[in-house]
Amino acid sequence: MKKVISTLILLCAGILMLTQCSQSGSDKDAALTDSSAVQSENLMSDKAELERGKYLVGICGCDDCHSPKLMTPEGPVIDSSRRLSGHPADMQLPEINHSELAPGKWILAEQDLTAWAGLWGVSFAVNLTPDSATGTGAWTPELFIKILRSGKFMGIDAGRPILPPMPWQNYGQMTDSDLRAIFSFLKSLPPISNKVPDPLPPVEMKKG
Ligand code: HEC
Repeated sequence: MKKVISTLILLCAGILMLTQCSQSGSDKDAALTDSSAVQSENLMSDKAELERGKYLVGICGCDDCHSPKLMTPEGPVIDSSRRLSGHPADMQLPEINHSELAPGKWILAEQDLTAWAGLWGVSFAVNLTPDSATGTGAWTPELFIKILRSGKFMGIDAGRPILPPMPWQNYGQMTDSDLRAIFSFLKSLPPISNKVPDPLPPVEMKKG
């Protein structure tokens, strides 16, 4: 009888050890799978965010105003070597016919659509590439979102409003994750050094 009991005890201990072993093994496997799944999920979501940003920048037409163009017989096309770098600092503005800018008349656009004249003066599309001195290199996603939601230049509460024709009122309605995606895409562009001029106030504009 004693022998039967001790054999039973040994058997139970054996089974216990076996199950524990296999359990700790499967825990380890689960832990491994979890962390690598999270890692690849993060990689995937970074890639997906970048793709989303690229898509949104494309369909929102940021290039229309923020990319210098090459003039072709078919009209202006985006100069991909300077994509989204804003109004070229060295570009000579054509003469403005001020009589056209009176209320009820015209808004004028310089031919690559990076400079715009209206009753507000002349506005220049900014450099959206991540150059730290002249572009968005020092910006955070939070600042980018604040700029587009507040309509204030550089997001400064007491600062000047963002001038036409920048459609911040529309873009500011995007979700945080869409705006973050746009910002991630802008950050992925090659940085281009281009110091866009400050806007000209209406008075200076009239002086020519
Ligand atoms: C119709 C022309 C136009 C389009 C389209 C446009 N922008 Fe602009 N954007 C401008 C102009 C002009 C300015 C300069 C306004 C100023 O100086 O106040 C500007 C300014 C900005 C600023 C403000 C920079 C600052 O320093 O506060 C940001 C950010 C910006 N644009 C991002 C974008 C993004 C992103 C898109 C596309 C989703 C876009 N813009 C599409 C014309 C445009």
